[in-house]
Amino acid sequence: MQTGVSLVGVGSAKPSITLSNAELSQVVETSDEWITTRTGIQQRHVLQEGSLTSLATTAAQEALNMASTEAASVELIILATSTPDDLFGSATQVQAALGATQAAAFDLTAACSGFVFALATAAQYLRTGTFKTVLVIGADALSRWTDWSDRRTCVLFGDGAGAVVLKASDRDRLRGFELRSDGSMNACLNLSYAAESQELIPGKMVQKGTFQPVTMNGKEVYRFAVKRVPEVIEKALFRAGLSTADVDWLLLHQANQRILDAVAERLNIPSERVISNMARYGNTSAASIPIALDEAVRDGRVKAGDLIASSGFGAGLTWGAAIFEWL
Ligand code: ACO
Repeated sequence: MQTGVSLVGVGSAKPSITLSNAELSQVVETSDEWITTRTGIQQRHVLQEGSLTSLATTAAQEALNMASTEAASVELIILATSTPDDLFGSATQVQAALGATQAAAFDLTAACSGFVFALATAAQYLRTGTFKTVLVIGADALSRWTDWSDRRTCVLFGDGAGAVVLKASDRDRLRGFELRSDGSMNACLNLSYAAESQELIPGKMVQKGTFQPVTMNGKEVYRFAVKRVPEVIEKALFRAGLSTADVDWLLLHQANQRILDAVAERLNIPSERVISNMARYGNTSAASIPIALDEAVRDGRVKAGDLIASSGFGAGLTWGAAIFEWL
C-alpha cells in the first residue's frame, strides 16, 4: 500500500476586478501610504459578480490540468472556506461543475488556516489507503462580509481561490504537519452570527438573524501570529527530522508583510526565500497559500524537490504548519 502523499498539481483563480488603495481611500479615511507601510498591500481582487464556487472550480481545474488528472478520478474534494455560496456546503457544487462524479465532497472551515487544516485532513485519507486522489481547495470571498465603513479591516481582505491535487505515493513528500487551536482567543477575530428573536406563535420565540461583518483586534492577532507561527513551523520541522536550514521556501498565509518579515527573521530564513504576493492580493484567507504556491511554481521559483514550510493562521484562533516537497 502507498502510504506517502505527493502534491502533483496546483492552480488558482481570482476575480478580474481589482480595488486599489487609492480607491479604498474614497470609501474610508485611509491612504495608500498607511496601507502599504502597515500591511504591504497595494491592491486586492474582489468579486463583483460570479460565485465563490466558480472561482474554486477554475482553480481546481487548473490544478487537475497540471497533474494530468481527470476530474472523474478524484475521490475526495475538500473545500476550505469561511465564505461559501451555500452554508450547507459549496464543495458539492464544485464537484458537480468539475464533473468529479466519483468524489465525496465537503467544506471545512478553519478561516485563514483552512488550507493547512484541509491538507492535513486530506493526507489522512491518502495515508490510510482510503483514497488515492484528493483535491484540496482554499477559496474565500471575505469582501462579501467586510464592513466597508471599518478602515481597520476593510483594507486587508481580497478574494480568490487556490487548489492542489494530492495523490497517494510511495515517496512521502508531505514531510510533517502540526495543527493548533485556541478558542479562548475567539473574540479577537469574528464573523459571527447575530441572532434576533422573532415570535413564531404566541409565547414561542425562534431565532432569526444574519452574520455580522468581520471584526478584528488587529494588534492581538498580530502578536499571536508572530509568536505562534515560528513555533508551529519549528515543531513541524522537528517532527520531520528537519530544521529551518533545510527550508527552500517559507510560504505563510498572506496576512501582512510585516508578519511575513517578522516570522522569517525569527526563523532566520532570508527574505529572498519568503514567498509573498501580498501587494497584489491582500489577505485572501484560505486561498492565500495555494494562490502564492501556484504563482511561484508557474514562474519557476519553486522547483521539483524544493522543501516548502507553509503556515496558516487566523480566526478561531487556529494555526498550523505543513512541511512538504514540491512534486
Ligand atoms: N488607514 C488609516 N489608519 C488606520 C487604518 C487604515 N486603514 N486602520 C487603522 N488605522 C489607525 C488606527 O485607527 C490607529 O489610530 P489611533 O492610534 O489614532 O487609534 C492607528 O492606525 C494604528 O492602528 P493599529 O490597529 O494599532 O495598527 P497596526 O499597526 O496594528 O496595524 C493591522 C493594523 C494591519 C490590522 C495589523 O494589526 C495586522 O496585520 N494584524 C494581523 C491581522 C491578521 O493577521 N489577520 C490574520 C487572519 S485574518 C482571518 O483569519 C480571516
